[in-house]
Amino acid sequence: MITDTKEFVKRVDGAADYIKQAASDCALPQICIVLGSGLGPLASMVEVLHEISYKDIPGFPVSTAPGHKGSLIIGNLSGKTVFLMNGRFHYYEGYPMETVTFYVRVMGRLGVKVLFLTNASGGINLDLKVPELVAITDHISFNAEPVLRGPNIEEFGTRFPDQCHVYDPALTDTIVNCARDLGIRISRGVYAYTKGPQYETPAEIRALRTMGADCVGMSTVPEAIAASHMGIRVAAMSCITNMAAGISGNPLSEQEVLDNAAKASDNSCALVKEFVRRIEF
Ligand code: HPA
Repeated sequence: MITDTKEFVKRVDGAADYIKQAASDCALPQICIVLGSGLGPLASMVEVLHEISYKDIPGFPVSTAPGHKGSLIIGNLSGKTVFLMNGRFHYYEGYPMETVTFYVRVMGRLGVKVLFLTNASGGINLDLKVPELVAITDHISFNAEPVLRGPNIEEFGTRFPDQCHVYDPALTDTIVNCARDLGIRISRGVYAYTKGPQYETPAEIRALRTMGADCVGMSTVPEAIAASHMGIRVAAMSCITNMAAGISGNPLSEQEVLDNAAKASDNSCALVKEFVRRIEF
């Protein structure tokens, strides 16, 4: 939990200044895309202007999750300059929430207007088919460590932020429209956040279904809360890489998640590229 707010803001601004300096020869992007499982190939579709290793950015953690590289790319995609976070930070890696969401705060200070979060998740809604995509409309995170606990940083946002539109409805419509126009199957759905790293039990999945969740995963929600706290518009998309615990009768495995994320990769990347082309700030 943050205790010294002044020191924390200084740390965020130190990281932002480092990125500004490193990219002083180009206009700073207004959109940041976070590459979840299966989106890795998007990094090779970008005309890279700068690639900054997380370990070189003061205050940045280093991502340890499998399949998550650790670099911030600034580059051109679909006619726009973008930030690509090639690797993110999860609570299950052992970081406190202010570290998981540190990069979001930095993006906010750099003037980013839109955060596009992508992830892999388990399908809870039985109408979902692996490896289809879901445009996230809302989330459930009752059991999560609260992201905004501790003294509020007024420069970032208000003490009690409204949560009715954490995921910007217009951006969600844009995701769905892009998918429709590209002939990609997509649903809208509610994402349930679990802290991990263990997958859920079948009983937890039945409980989450009763509560109204369509899919479940271990990322995205902390970042979405921090971003919306700062007034950054959030879009989020999930790839259903497996049916959630207890549905198929088979044990869940990381390999299944990675294999199915890779199968959806062409669609996921095409959709993000089209989204960036259409987005207006
Ligand atoms: N549960 C939690 N996280 C996940 C899953 C799941 O079934 N699939 C991919 N990430």
